[in-house]
Amino acid sequence: MGKISSATVRHDFNDTNVVVHYTRAAHELGLWASERLLIERWFPDRNAPLIEIGCGAGRVTLGLWDLGYRGLTAVDFAEELLDQARSLAALRAAGAIRFLHADATRLRTDHRLRDRAASGPSGPVQSVCNVLRYKELLAGDDVTRERGSAMRDQPEPNGFAGALFMFNGLMQIPGREHRRQALREIRAVCRPDAAFLFTTHDRDDEPRDRPHWAAEAARWARGEQDPRLGEFGDRYFRDDHGGHTFMHLPTHAEVREDLAATGWTPVFDAMRRDLACESQAVRDFSDECRFWVARKE
Ligand SMILES: C[S@@+](CC[C@H](N)C(=O)[O-])C[C@H]1O[C@@H](n2cnc3c(N)ncnc32)[C@H](O)[C@@H]1O
Repeated sequence: MGKISSATVRHDFNDTNVVVHYTRAAHELGLWASERLLIERWFPDRNAPLIEIGCGAGRVTLGLWDLGYRGLTAVDFAEELLDQARSLAALRAAGAIRFLHADATRLRTDHRLRDRAASGPSGPVQSVCNVLRYKELLAGDDVTRERGSAMRDQPEPNGFAGALFMFNGLMQIPGREHRRQALREIRAVCRPDAAFLFTTHDRDDEPRDRPHWAAEAARWARGEQDPRLGEFGDRYFRDDHGGHTFMHLPTHAEVREDLAATGWTPVFDAMRRDLACESQAVRDFSDECRFWVARKE
């Protein structure tokens, strides 16, 4: 049995049940109160170019649009979700949002993915763009073309003024070194002084989970952990909406180490419950999490 890889995660996010789940949230749930609070606090300029990584079906993207943000680039590596986000933007007359198919660990590279699990290594090539050059390679051939309106295709010479990776997307990248690679890439496409807002679980925060982690530590010590997992703190489970979820649950210290190793300075962190009282619908959709803001020095 192989390890969970980014191809597994991408395949899981393209699953129909998962796409329906996130599309419904994008249409009906919108921003959490805590997200709105921190977005408005850390991204005061509504016209600044912002990049949202892991936009999924556009729940946060369209929330940003509704708050008046107009310099939005939204990226995801799951093309089925991205299609839903594009449709929702069209429905809400938010055509100025730039949606790009890109992998967080390779934001600056024109590259091609051939790992869509359904089609295998000989299946159709999926093209992915360099988020700074705003070009998209046409799937299946070598033609490069500019997409969208002239305004949307202007290069961003100084990079983005801010970045977001919401609802734990960063921790859905298997492998600490890959998560660090994503942090480096996000930093590289941002301007000096840019703020980066993201969330994670906090393995040390929840007393109810301590017995689970103690038992898991014993399994790892005996070498009897789930063979699909690469690191202690990983989980791979069947979720309530009929799909599979990979999640790495870090400690507070681990996230700080990863930020330090990749050139980000943490400037704020707080548990969601300490920021806002979320509706029942939001709590049904999502567990408690820790919000982080880091600054590119
Ligand atoms: C939990 S979902 C959140 C989706 C959306 N932001 C929301 O809050 O509804 C995490 C998203 O991150 C995306 N993602 C995970 N790893 C990624 C990667 N390496 N590159 C780009 N997107 C990624 C997934 O495809 C998924 O859409």
